[in-house]
Amino acid sequence: MLYQQKMLRDGALQGKTIIVTGGGTGLGKSASRYLLELGANVVICSRKLPILEASAAELMSETGGQVLAVACDVREYEQIENVITQAVARFGGVDGLLNNAAGNFISPTERLSHRAFSSVFDIVMKGSAFFTLAIGKYWIANNRRGTILSIVTTYAWTGSAYVVPSACAKAGVLAMTRSLAVEWAKYGIRVNAIAPGPFPTEGAWDNLLPEPIREKFNPKNKVPVGRVGEHQELANLVAYLLSDYSAYINGDCITIDGGEWLKGAGEFNNLEAVPKEMWDMLEMFIKSKK
Ligand code: HXC
Ligand code: NAP
Repeated sequence: MLYQQKMLRDGALQGKTIIVTGGGTGLGKSASRYLLELGANVVICSRKLPILEASAAELMSETGGQVLAVACDVREYEQIENVITQAVARFGGVDGLLNNAAGNFISPTERLSHRAFSSVFDIVMKGSAFFTLAIGKYWIANNRRGTILSIVTTYAWTGSAYVVPSACAKAGVLAMTRSLAVEWAKYGIRVNAIAPGPFPTEGAWDNLLPEPIREKFNPKNKVPVGRVGEHQELANLVAYLLSDYSAYINGDCITIDGGEWLKGAGEFNNLEAVPKEMWDMLEMFIKSKK
């Protein structure tokens, strides 16, 4: 299928260096692979160095590109500064940031301790804000252009039960995106976001769709196009938004969810359940009331 194929032209990110938080696993790793294939140097960072190093080795051997792996808890500002310093030392500069790291799990909110709330909220909100702040300061001080892209979710604007710390944090990241897109455009910094629907990854499925409820709540049943996302189609969008091809896109959040959130929102969308044969009868019934 075309959406499983690579979309941008060869060399679209040649000479760029891009930092991907949470780049050792899941969607961050898939995006990193494609950024490398398009010619970028990639810096992946997260808490677990052994996983990062294994992913870096795998990505370099698959793509022939250059990957730097740096341990970093995105809640710690000094560790973020260290990632940027190491990236500059190794590659001479940084051109893009993908705020992708996240923590999340389903839980009735009243069961959460304040530490549990902070754990998720801080990784997503503080982590994205601190990294954005540090990279923005670096670009502005060095008179460099740059692009920031954050992965949020569609419940950043609808909210969602059972993932309240994540919903609060993703909403904050979206507000930051729209705010800084205006404030930092004068420095040549673009700021955008992507809101994915369900894309299978170990991290998301283990924390949000644990085995005992996996079949009953199969996410593909909520998506109008009838399937979950493919990593390459998200990687295509990430690469485009980090590349100069998207130079006129600033402050936007692009949804890639097969129509999932709108299906949940439209007042009459549940009429999908009305069988085709019934519509003649319903039409007659409605007309008879005029
Ligand atoms: C209730 C929980 C809990 C759970 C942890 N806690 N899991 N409370 N239910 N399932 C509580 C702990 O008891 C503790 O509180 C506090 O949270 C911190 O727990 P730690 O294990 O010390 O936290 P930490 O090691 O920092 O791990 C963070 C984490 C973990 C978020 C809890 O799941 C993680 O590392 N996640 C990273 C990967 C991930 O989540 N990926 C999914 C992203 S998917 P107390 O009070 O006991 O000290 C995603 C998709 C969104 O975001 C959209 C989908 C469509
Ligand atoms: P994932 O593989 O679990 O990715 C999360 C990453 O964040 C991990 O690599 C993890 O690495 C890192 N991380 C967690 N806490 C961190 C911290 N304190 N500091 C630094 N790094 C940290 O899950 P994913 O599905 O690929 O998610 C990637 C992004 O997509 C997230 O922003 C998520 O909210 C978003 N998203 C996913 C889906 C989906 O269906 N998969 C849908 C919508 C949005 P360490 O454990 O090594 O730190």
